[in-house]
This record gives sequence, C-alpha cells and structure tokens, in this order.
Amino acid sequence: MNNDFFAEKAADYDTLKSRTDNVDAIALGIIKSNVFEKHMHIMEFGSGTGLLLSNVAPHVAKITAVDISPSMNSMLISKKNLLECKLEILEIDITKQAITEKFDGIISSMTIHHIEDVAALFRTFYNLLNTNGFIAIADLDTEDGSFHTTDTGVHHFGFNRDEFIAKAKAAGFNNLTIDTVSLIEKPTGNYSVFLLTGRK
Ligand SMILES: C[S@@+](CC[C@H](N)C(=O)[O-])C[C@H]1O[C@@H](n2cnc3c(N)ncnc32)[C@H](O)[C@@H]1O
Repeated sequence: MNNDFFAEKAADYDTLKSRTDNVDAIALGIIKSNVFEKHMHIMEFGSGTGLLLSNVAPHVAKITAVDISPSMNSMLISKKNLLECKLEILEIDITKQAITEKFDGIISSMTIHHIEDVAALFRTFYNLLNTNGFIAIADLDTEDGSFHTTDTGVHHFGFNRDEFIAKAKAAGFNNLTIDTVSLIEKPTGNYSVFLLTGRK
C-alpha cells in the first residue's frame, strides 16, 4: 500500500456493529483453538484499530502490532494503556520491510485480502516464527466483490479455502485446519469468514 487507504475510515472504524461482532467472533475462535499461553510474544499482522488484539491481550505477555496505516495506528495508540499486555506498534509493510524479531504466534483478521502475493506472505510468516509457532488467520471466503464499497487496497475478493490452505502448506506449515468462524451481514449481502490455524 502506498497510501493510507484507511485515513477516512479510522476514526469511525470501531462504530460499525457488524465489524466489531465479526472481530469478536474471530477472537473467540482463536482463543478456543487453545493456541495462546500467558508467556507468549505474538504478532498481529494488519492490526488496524486493535479490535482483535484487545480481545487477545489478556491471554499473552506481549503483542507486536504491525500495520502500514498511520490513521489506524493512531486509534490503536489511544487504547494502549487499556490493554492487558505489553504492546509494540510497528508502522511497516512486512511484505517490503524485514523484521528481525521472532514470535510465538501470528494472528490476523480481515487483512490478507489486501496483500497481493499471499504465498510470499506465508513464507514471511514462517520465517518470523519460533519453532512450533502458530498462525491463526481469519479472512473472507470467496465473494463477488460486493464486500468493499470503497477502495481500501483490495487484491482478493476473498479466498478459496483449498487454495489458501495449499499456500500455507507450501510455505512449510503443518497441522492446518480451516473452519467457518463468523458470518458478516451487510446491506450488500452475507459474507462468511474462515479461520485458518497451523503450526511451524
Ligand atoms: C480491514 S483492516 C482490518 C483491521 C483489523 N485486523 C480488524 O479486523 O479490525 C486491514 C488492515 O490491514 C492493514 N494493511 C493492509 N495492507 C498492509 C500491509 N501490507 N502491511 C501492514 N498492514 C497492512 C490496513 O492498514 C488495515 O489497518
């Protein structure tokens, strides 16, 4: 992303109930998958205003929030003191800039459809994880393009689950499972959301 696609959206981002309900359902799905341990340092990719990581914070020691959008990051900064774990914010694009830290897990919600080369992203995630580290990634199932009504830098109209899981497998992940975690109801239609989990 060259521009801050979320500049117009950030201030009101958390006010849409269908959005917060969706991220709450994703967080519950990840928590129920039993990937978290209290000592862990995890990364959230595309952390936005922090809807997902706010739910996850009580379950880990530290979260590194990675997001390219200054406006979304400023919303997250305003919540920092309320979070129940340590928080580090990296305003970078990890498809272009390297991170030297390693993580116990990587979580992501509704962000991968903004990334052009998903296979390369999975390889990056694999290299960023400690041995046995996990991924827990939620995004849209294939949709007809009606989900986004404004241009926020979308590269994929959701994903075919078999193709998505194959990219994670090709990057080296194992114990991969993918299940429905949420259904978003919008005036333009209903959109199902999957959660993929796997291990390095
Ligand atoms: C649809 S929002 C989702 C935010 C949050 N995960 C949630 O579910 O509420 C997608 C986020 O991904 C971020 N993003 C998109 N491409 C990115 C990239 N290449 N690197 C880092 N963040 C990116 C955007 O800035 C935005 O905050």
